[in-house]
Amino acid sequence: MKIAVIGTGYVGLVAGACFADSGTHVTCVDVNQARLDELKAGKVPFFEPGLEAMVTRNHRERLHFTTDLATALNGCSVAFIAVGTPPNDDGSADLSHVLDVAKDVAHLATDDIILVLKSTVPLGTNQKVRDVVRGCAHKVSVVSNPEFLKEGAALGDFLKPDRVVIGTDDDHAFEMLSRLYAPFNRQRDRLQRMSPVSAEIVKYSANALLATKISFMNEIALLCDQAGADVEDVRLALGSDRRIGYEFLYPGLGFGGSCFPKDLRALVHTATELGIKLQVTQAAIDANREPVKALLGHMERDLGALKGKTIAVWGLAFKPGTDDVREAPAFTLIEGLLKRGAKVRATDPQALTTAKARFEFLGIEGVELNSDSLAICEGADALVLATEWSAYRSPDAGKLARLMTGRHIFDGRNALIKGELVDAGFIYRGVGRS
Ligand SMILES: NC(=O)c1ccc[n+]([C@@H]2O[C@H](COP(=O)([O-])OP(=O)(O)OC[C@H]3O[C@@H](n4cnc5c(N)ncnc54)[C@H](O)[C@@H]3O)[C@@H](O)[C@H]2O)c1
Repeated sequence: MKIAVIGTGYVGLVAGACFADSGTHVTCVDVNQARLDELKAGKVPFFEPGLEAMVTRNHRERLHFTTDLATALNGCSVAFIAVGTPPNDDGSADLSHVLDVAKDVAHLATDDIILVLKSTVPLGTNQKVRDVVRGCAHKVSVVSNPEFLKEGAALGDFLKPDRVVIGTDDDHAFEMLSRLYAPFNRQRDRLQRMSPVSAEIVKYSANALLATKISFMNEIALLCDQAGADVEDVRLALGSDRRIGYEFLYPGLGFGGSCFPKDLRALVHTATELGIKLQVTQAAIDANREPVKALLGHMERDLGALKGKTIAVWGLAFKPGTDDVREAPAFTLIEGLLKRGAKVRATDPQALTTAKARFEFLGIEGVELNSDSLAICEGADALVLATEWSAYRSPDAGKLARLMTGRHIFDGRNALIKGELVDAGFIYRGVGRS
């Protein structure tokens, strides 16, 4: 089978590489020529473990890159749309890229084609796309097939998905996608067929439910702090209840990234348009502002006025395993520190380049970036762990104590080994650990 994947971001490139790796002939299309040049040279323009090797071993044989959509669609039976759906100012999803691509595919297709919506799109988009492609020369079947991969574990998630949701009322389209996904569907049947609108709801409600779990736990952490409890004990006891489970139960600085914040806002926006008030989802969004606020409060109480203080920040990516810094809590924290007059030095094992670009984009100046996590601690009054990269979890406490001027460590992810730090003379403060 010959397919096209339009958009070579996290989702499009992972999907394209994984399909190619399982024997499908894939042409990836993007409007970003520089990105395609990098890909052709064997370089993946973002950090995703294992992806570069997979792209390299399939490139030219089964995986091709082009900016020319017509070339990609020549003889192609399935086209995936995996372009971005960034937020508009009112929280709704900007569908312009998706609709533009759908229109182009419909006009350039050389035969009947299955057009698969893989981008995260609000309820009713499948119908909107059908309206856009109506009347073109060939039959275009529009299928909703949302993607659930996690950055940092994207290949594993794509190759061994929990489920593959296929929203379609077209039997032929379902049959074709079943064939395409067959290599990832061997252990058990992971395909879940439903109506397009149900598929659209699944994607948003999955993200809303996971984000709600995070916000709930962050709120319980605030309560633990106030009440003198240890949220780690609470987490373990909650997680051991099989109805709850351990996943997404870690308190921290809040959720971020390119999906949860924008998808929750888009869900609330669509529901409002339909006359439904999503109070739980809205509460999860509102509660997500509290953890960084609470941390800044603790820092001011423990260190006194932050003006002139030097603060080292470990971690800028929104989570470990990625260089994605979109809506990362570390940025809200750093903005808060700078506003209070602190001097900020920051590091990250993968996200220094993306962070530099993001600081420029946000107009945030004065952050000293350095790849050396110990060097930024020299003379620092305090250290904050903002992203729980494993490289940061067990620092040389004695060395850190010799380097830093201050004795305060704020563990925004409860990931550091408290005992070693306390033994080295540090005052350790985790999240919800009073
Ligand atoms: N990143 C994730 O973890 C994730 C997970 C599941 C779903 N999603 C959803 O998948 C979609 C894509 O996300 P992403 O993170 O891969 O986005 P991204 O921003 O990393 O990549 C999007 C790509 O699409 C390209 N593009 C834009 N307009 C185009 C056009 N007209 N023709 C060809 N290419 C075009 C851009 O140049 C870019 O390379 C979004 O809707 C997102 O919400 C993302």
